[in-house]
Amino acid sequence: MIRLTEIIEKETIRQVLDIGTGDGHFIKTLTELFPEAFFTGIDPSEEAIQTARQSFPDKKYRFETMNAENLVFPNESFDLSTISNALHHLATPEKPYMK
Ligand SMILES: C[S@@+](CC[C@H](N)C(=O)[O-])C[C@H]1O[C@@H](n2cnc3c(N)ncnc32)[C@H](O)[C@@H]1O
Repeated sequence: MIRLTEIIEKETIRQVLDIGTGDGHFIKTLTELFPEAFFTGIDPSEEAIQTARQSFPDKKYRFETMNAENLVFPNESFDLSTISNALHHLATPEKPYMK
């Protein structure tokens, strides 16, 4: 995690997408790294998304039930996308990052 902030200029990150966010566990870490940013977490598990919404009620967070292999966001919506401990769940791991 130290490396992430070494290679990224914090000030350039306003919108963060966390893929396979689950209950939002990794978003806690991301918030510490990018305290000024807004965060979107996506996960196909409705139950996990409900838990995440309850855990992160602030307006800077939003959570959507969504499959990483079928993202509906317009291109260039995010300055940074992350995936923590979920890549192995994807049938085509490269797909979320293809235009
Ligand atoms: C081990 S959990 C990791 C949760 C969180 N990222 C963390 O680091 O604690 C893996 C997550 O990947 C999600 N997942 C599985 N298939 C997915 C897919 N196709 N697109 C997005 N997320 C997926 C699961 O629902 C689960 O919440």
